[in-house]
Amino acid sequence: MTDSSVHPTSEVAVAVELNGEHVHATIPAHRTLLDMLRDDLGLCGTKRCCAEGECGACSVLLDGELVNSCLVLGAEADGGVLLTIEGLSMDGVTDLQEEFLAAGAVQCGVCIPGQVMAAEQLLQTNPDASRDEIRDVMSGNLCRCASYQRIVEAIQTAAAGRRTDA
Ligand code: FES
Repeated sequence: MTDSSVHPTSEVAVAVELNGEHVHATIPAHRTLLDMLRDDLGLCGTKRCCAEGECGACSVLLDGELVNSCLVLGAEADGGVLLTIEGLSMDGVTDLQEEFLAAGAVQCGVCIPGQVMAAEQLLQTNPDASRDEIRDVMSGNLCRCASYQRIVEAIQTAAAGRRTDA
């Protein structure tokens, strides 16, 4: 007798707080959080690029921690609190997004949602991050257009703005 809970075609019910709303989904047990967000819940701001945990384009916050959603099963998020780029910018363009644009860090744009999520998590946990700390944390988010210096500058400017506003 097989265990249906691990059968690759079995489905699981997932309940999460997603961008401030309670959301339920029934998904294949093997579906990633990335695919659940994009394909089941229609939130395509989170990007699918390498799909193997290398590029960071799929970054979201799960219970306040930055995760590569391509490496997390949707079922693992059950009961969790999720924040995606849609939730972050629910009230309009954020300071980080403004600074990314102002710095000319946005070129093809594919990596930007993941970059912004990583930067947001950084500034929430370390608002006084040094340039080296920013570079270190952001090293998990790749940019094929090589806007790295501009991305770091944008984060530094946003951090300075938050300190001024505090
Ligand atoms: Fe998840 Fe690249 S798509 S890390």
